[in-house]
Amino acid sequence: MQKLLIQGGRRLQGEVRVHGAKNSSLPILAAALLGGGETVLHNCPALSDVDAALRILTYLGCEVRREGDTVRIESSSVTQNEIPDDLMHEMRSSIVFLGAILSRMGRAKLSFPGGCELGPRPIDLHIQALERLGAQIAEEYGYLDCRAEQGLTGTKITLAFPSVGATENILLASVLAKGETVIHNAAQEPEIVDLANYLISRGARIRDAGRSTILIEGVDRLSSTEYTVMPDRIVAATYLSGAAITGGDVLVTGVNPNDLESVLPVFEQAGCRMKVEPDRIFLSGPGMLRPVSGPIRTMPYPGFPTDAQAPLMATLTLADGTSMFVENIFESRYKHAAELARMGADIKVEGRTAVVRGVEKLYGVPVEATDLRGGAALVVAALAAVGETRISRVEHIDRGYESVETAFSSLGAKIRRV
Ligand code: EPZ
Repeated sequence: MQKLLIQGGRRLQGEVRVHGAKNSSLPILAAALLGGGETVLHNCPALSDVDAALRILTYLGCEVRREGDTVRIESSSVTQNEIPDDLMHEMRSSIVFLGAILSRMGRAKLSFPGGCELGPRPIDLHIQALERLGAQIAEEYGYLDCRAEQGLTGTKITLAFPSVGATENILLASVLAKGETVIHNAAQEPEIVDLANYLISRGARIRDAGRSTILIEGVDRLSSTEYTVMPDRIVAATYLSGAAITGGDVLVTGVNPNDLESVLPVFEQAGCRMKVEPDRIFLSGPGMLRPVSGPIRTMPYPGFPTDAQAPLMATLTLADGTSMFVENIFESRYKHAAELARMGADIKVEGRTAVVRGVEKLYGVPVEATDLRGGAALVVAALAAVGETRISRVEHIDRGYESVETAFSSLGAKIRRV
């Protein structure tokens, strides 16, 4: 089991580039299954979740080749319509393959995605939507068996909740369906726009991705394409959190500040100075962080992103006052609070609310990453802690951060992997 050793107390300085977005790469890789042909995907991050998706594509029959941060997928000879258990359990978000396999093969068999650290991960919205598109879905002893032998037919779908994954599955299932599909209450995350732009670059007809009503006109085929994945906005927020908590001066490049329009004001309220340009954000952390008064409520985009809750919580543990979070998206996404408390943080969790009372110092102690963003929060806290922090279960962090130790070392942190 690998660990990260971090010697805290050094102000981060310098420039770091943000890698491609995990949560855009994954649905785009699933979409590469559609319609055969070749997808050349640039800025595809080297993450364990992305590797898992590439293994699924290979298993299904695609030819997959990685050349640095470019991945080539040739999907003309897809032969399988089932994702085996071991591959399903490697990555929770494999559910995003359902719509693509169903559209391509007319049938899809996969096991229910296991629950994960964030609580149960229901897929009722995915199933209801695909059934409305004409799929017959049988659920038996942990398996989903989906059929659409007559193909899929466009229709009107209203999502009870603007689910990112369900919106993605509907896009993947409807671009080659017969007729028009309208999605009401669609997720508006930038990753949805990136997926739609990839599909449009292959000839799909999609209007208003990024708005709450998306229009898809089914087409007969999709062409090959070359596409570049958007930058990872949550990784950018994590680097900025490290700069804020250490009182550092950091330039984050290759990021789209518009994707962080509900996160940057929180850094400002905490006393950070920022300079924002179209593809970069400079952040200078204050000597003493200020608390963020109004509760920080996680919401569907364009609200505050749930994935940034943990890193920002870590930052505010050292503010000179009390901040508050309300986690509205996932049921139990505060597991990192207990680990931060072991480092000396004062955090009270009551259901969906977490009250963070700022403390003078955090202390380096052995802690354990509980999930991807919770693990990132421990790295942020360790950068400012007194002494050495040992973080175990680093595999959680590697799911969403390309070599986190290299990125923070390049900013002057004393961090190494053992
Ligand atoms: C995506 O997960 C992201 N993952 C998550 O990032 C992110 O936190 C989440 O969107 C919200 O932004 C990927 O893109 C791979 P949802 P997803 O469907 O699609 C409930 C990270 O750290 N729900 O919008 O699973 C669900 O339980 C990860 O990178 C249903 O009830 O998110 C949750 O409470 C973590 N029924 C809420 O909706 C459904 O059918 C949001 O889920 C689907 C979802």
